[in-house]
Amino acid sequence: MRPYRHREGDDVGDPHRVGVVGLGVISRAYLDTLANHPAVSIVAVADLDASRSAAVAAMIPGAEALSVEHLFDRPDVQTVLNLTIPAAHAEISLGAIDAGKSVYVEKPLAVAFPDGRSIIDRAASAGVRVGCAPDTVLGTGTQTARAAIDGGLIGRPLSASAVMVTPGHERWHPHPDFYYAPGGGPLLDMGPYYISALIHLLGPVRAVSGSASRLRAERVIGSGPRLGHRIPVQVDTHVTGVLEHASGALSTITTTFDGVATTAAPIEVHGETGTLAVPDPNYFDGEVRLFALGGNGWRVVAPRAGYVDGSRGIGLIDDVTGDGQRPPRAGGDVGLHVLDTMTTLLRAAAEGRRIELTTVVERPELVPLTPVEEWKAHHGTRKVRRP
Ligand SMILES: NC(=O)c1ccc[n+]([C@@H]2O[C@H](COP(=O)([O-])OP(=O)(O)OC[C@H]3O[C@@H](n4cnc5c(N)ncnc54)[C@H](O)[C@@H]3O)[C@@H](O)[C@H]2O)c1
Repeated sequence: MRPYRHREGDDVGDPHRVGVVGLGVISRAYLDTLANHPAVSIVAVADLDASRSAAVAAMIPGAEALSVEHLFDRPDVQTVLNLTIPAAHAEISLGAIDAGKSVYVEKPLAVAFPDGRSIIDRAASAGVRVGCAPDTVLGTGTQTARAAIDGGLIGRPLSASAVMVTPGHERWHPHPDFYYAPGGGPLLDMGPYYISALIHLLGPVRAVSGSASRLRAERVIGSGPRLGHRIPVQVDTHVTGVLEHASGALSTITTTFDGVATTAAPIEVHGETGTLAVPDPNYFDGEVRLFALGGNGWRVVAPRAGYVDGSRGIGLIDDVTGDGQRPPRAGGDVGLHVLDTMTTLLRAAAEGRRIELTTVVERPELVPLTPVEEWKAHHGTRKVRRP
């Protein structure tokens, strides 16, 4: 991936101009982070539902409600923030890249691996950047655990477990259809948090195996205007797997929409001389705890890395305020490796065998401990010239 190209003179210091496509449930969290952030300026918003874009534009000074095509055509949009449903991620991201924009896309990068591959390859040819959620793993939770591992607190890391149990998002999401359509399911939906965290903690994955099952053929919407509607379940809703990391460490992962609750730590990492309990990678913070070999209990590891009080959108801020030389920490290459891990695991489960991945990725750089005042006040953005 090529870095942003720098501009000289008066342009240096201008906010990075963002167009947002997709203004549903999660867009509010992003807008809360980005709408007032000095490093970015939201100049355009678009949604299939024009009433949503009009409502959001009315809330953000300087933002214009546009059709998706017009947003792509607007020369001043530097990055398209793609918050559409997973099935639309590839179409919107590729459209933006073809219009010369960088992209930051919600997870997963795409629902099919070849589409994810196209996004990364076409962005590289166009000289634009790709960022991909989740950026929660840049918060103090996952980053402190990673710093603890790198600092030798558990000796050589050997294995990890990741557990996500929920009875299903249809209980609270007003339009949960996509979670049960191809490209949905617990692994593609929630796996990106856990697998991204495992990549930050233990490095890339080289091979996977797994098994999957399905509890029900239908789900019932539990909120909103379609309360009580039945939706079909077209994907497996309980997915388990083993990830073999390139380092030799083994992670076991369980993601399910078919369970009620769990007492398991979201992630545990076991090393030769200690075990770390890692907080939920769906959140930015939370307590990291260590049980050292020979010790007499768990002790809290004070935050030592990551964005303090991070919030969604910080992955984009991290990139536009970076030096332009390193790949985005919440990067498209990580998103592609996560997608490869997930889609290959589902194939391994369907075919009943172990499969090696086709992608490799560098472990992203550690985020230094960054106080909230520091990342919220950042004024220095790199400048982007459209190719
Ligand atoms: N809801 C959450 O809590 C949550 C949390 C983290 C991440 N995410 C991710 O965020 C993304 C969006 O989820 P959501 O819950 O906000 O979904 P949503 O259905 O509430 O919103 C999606 C929006 O995108 C619009 N859209 C869909 N296709 C489009 C297209 N082709 N062009 C323009 N607009 C289009 C829809 O009209 C809708 O307004 C998904 O990738 C999801 O995995 C959601």
